[in-house]
Amino acid sequence: MLLERVFGDGAQYLRQRRVERRIETCGLRVRKTLEAFDWAFQKNLNRAVIEGLATLGFVDDREDLLITGKSGTGKSHILQALALRACEREIQVRYARCVDLIDDLYAGLADQTYEARMRRWARAEWLVIDDVGLGQLRRRDDEPTAAHILFNLLDRRHEHAATALTSNIKLGEWGKYLGDATLAAAILDRFAMTSIRIDIDGPSYRDHLAKQRAKDHGIVDDST
Ligand SMILES: Nc1ncnc2c1ncn2[C@@H]1O[C@H](COP(=O)(O)OP(=O)(O)OP(=O)(O)O)[C@@H](O)[C@H]1O
Ligand SMILES: [Mg+2]
Repeated sequence: MLLERVFGDGAQYLRQRRVERRIETCGLRVRKTLEAFDWAFQKNLNRAVIEGLATLGFVDDREDLLITGKSGTGKSHILQALALRACEREIQVRYARCVDLIDDLYAGLADQTYEARMRRWARAEWLVIDDVGLGQLRRRDDEPTAAHILFNLLDRRHEHAATALTSNIKLGEWGKYLGDATLAAAILDRFAMTSIRIDIDGPSYRDHLAKQRAKDHGIVDDST
């Protein structure tokens, strides 16, 4: 009995260490949780749908996920929380902001490690690409466009492994942002086929916090 407990605790300890290591190396810089999400604030968001996604069945089913919505509506928060859950479930997840992922691959073009880096991104069991549309992407005539790089990556993953994307720009603006309208359309075409789509149509939590802070400091906001 005692031995069982000791071994049981040992196994639990090792599991926790594996999970912690996964969280540290998957690319997440913050630890967001669904428990900390204020559902009452984002009224149009269907809580049951998000909590259903948190079982991560869609990762096993290799389904893609696309979350759109204006800035501050909680897109990254939700995906970061789901990525944390994935680590706890010992799913091999990689999280990156779109600009950082593209920069990593451009760095690979410069030092001949592009293919190795591409393979690493491509083989993640679940790949989370956050914030498409935010941040300046590199644009040089002698290099492939970000659209080209992203297309190659997503095409390799398509129907083999699940990928999630968030974006705060309209899907019609992806071409301009990624530098190639045809390839951006091809990316979205593949995504539209298999993805679960969620659009968060609501207010910005950042604005809410700013107003709250102003109120706490006795500053009256006349703008609304
Ligand atoms: N409903 C919410 N409850 C609690 N915190 C929230 C909620 N929505 C957003 N936040 C918090 O507000 C901040 C901004 O949210 P988040 O980064 O998820 O926005 P976003 O939709 O990804 O915006 P962007 O398009 O600018 O990337 C984060 O610190 C996040 O944790
Ligand atoms: Mg975001």
